[in-house]
Amino acid sequence: MLIGVLKEAAPGETRVAATPTTVAQLLALGYEVVVEPGAGVASSFGDDAYVAAGARLGEATGADVVLGVNAPTPAQRDALRPGATLIALLDVRTDEAMVADLAARPITALAMDAVPRISRAQSMDVLSSMANVAGYRAVVEAAHEFGRMFTGQVTAAGKIPPARVFVVGAGVAGLAAIGAASSMGAIVRAFDVRPEVAEQVESMGASFVSVDVETEVSSDGYAKEMTAEQVAATAAMYDEEARAADIVITTALIPGRPAPQLVGPETVAAMRSGSVVVDLAASQGGNVAGTVTGERTVTANGVTILGYTDLAGRLPAQASQLYGTNLVNLLKLLTPGKDGVLVLDLDDVVQRGITVVREGELMWPPPPVQVSAAPSAAPKAAAPVAPPKPPMSARTKLGLVLGAIALFGLVNATAPDPIPRHFTTLMLSVVIGYYVIGKVAHALHTPLMSVTNAISGVVVVGALVQIADDDLVIKLSAAAAILLASINIFGGFAVTRRMLGMFSKGA
Ligand code: NAI
Repeated sequence: MLIGVLKEAAPGETRVAATPTTVAQLLALGYEVVVEPGAGVASSFGDDAYVAAGARLGEATGADVVLGVNAPTPAQRDALRPGATLIALLDVRTDEAMVADLAARPITALAMDAVPRISRAQSMDVLSSMANVAGYRAVVEAAHEFGRMFTGQVTAAGKIPPARVFVVGAGVAGLAAIGAASSMGAIVRAFDVRPEVAEQVESMGASFVSVDVETEVSSDGYAKEMTAEQVAATAAMYDEEARAADIVITTALIPGRPAPQLVGPETVAAMRSGSVVVDLAASQGGNVAGTVTGERTVTANGVTILGYTDLAGRLPAQASQLYGTNLVNLLKLLTPGKDGVLVLDLDDVVQRGITVVREGELMWPPPPVQVSAAPSAAPKAAAPVAPPKPPMSARTKLGLVLGAIALFGLVNATAPDPIPRHFTTLMLSVVIGYYVIGKVAHALHTPLMSVTNAISGVVVVGALVQIADDDLVIKLSAAAAILLASINIFGGFAVTRRMLGMFSKGA
């Protein structure tokens, strides 16, 4: 059979359904391949590369199997020959007119966007492939708009704080965005209504934001619609997180439904000037107030909102390679004899799931596929990271300061010399230590541990000198100092050893 690869007609589409690499794989399945001239140019695949891979150039619509990224135009559909099999992203969940049009033709139509989200079909799951690329690109777009570094730095010219990124929806796109933003050095926080993804969020380097509300473990890898209680509980969290963030990336979606608006106009209006929102759900209406589908907008308070719907296409070479590989994997399934003959087996749940029309007969919608995407054990790691503690109130702070001054005065007025001098030194050390150590970023706690080990060494030397004193109180204090400082030193060694062990290949 002859496979035809369309040159995409949709304005702005940069992807192509086959690359020179996947053409070679299609040939190995026994097919011949014809590619429309210029089909891969926007993805950096020239006609020569396709010819070198074994394809010929020519019209694709007359082939036995026609591969496209988007649904073909009416003219392209009219050119399909009777009995042809069309494979593309057909948008069948929302475009009823397209389904009716395809069903009126003597063809077979397979929708790549309908591949069920089950383990067996992962290698054909185009939506996941594209969402992965889009999630990464969302961070690149955000970084470009943000105009500042994501990573924190301490330089001779001053301190640069790390960017704060808040990701909503930790599906494929959300996890890709988390991974990209974390690797660029941002502090990333993420939320999803599916509690089972907390572990994945944390493994990608982000903190999972919790909401104290009961949620359901997903049965099909997609979220269930939220209850009114969940909506109310999450609204306050979205507001707090978005206001604190420099970048907000939203990917929240339940397939086949309009995207829920999660970040409202008041929250956007309260975000800092220079903040960036990338709304991946823009094509379904968007998760953020003010998103304009396909557009970049800047709000009155200086927040840039990106509603781009072509994020995967903004990395066209890799997006095409992944899409082409998804198609090759599908064709492997459809070509059991590896003889270039396409055989559609409707008893197979994946093949049935994507079949919209079979030889002119409407097959849409397919029976639902119910496969648990939840981990077998109850997700213990879903125990959410607690939200940051509220800062100490001004009254409490004042009370503490006054109490400390009173104690200081009392000791100085009543205690015999040299206790007031020692007490003053102790109090100053506590205050300086509190502010110095409290300002050290978590990432620097390991070097800090080395410094405290050195201080503990000094403490041990001082205590050894004092332990010979005749005064029992001094003797006991010195013994306690040696004990506590030794715990710090040996504890530090033990932690260092464990950390080094994590990098050891276990030779
Ligand atoms: P997915 O289904 O893997 O992830 C969506 C996640 O959102 C799920 O984890 C779900 O639990 C979560 N979610 C649903 N409702 C939520 C809510 N109310 N609050 C918090 N989380 C919620 O989907 P995937 O593949 O990651 O795609 C995400 C979005 O990205 C989709 O809207 C998709 O259409 C879009 N997309 C956009 C592209 C673009 O160029 N703009 C390109 C590719 C995908």
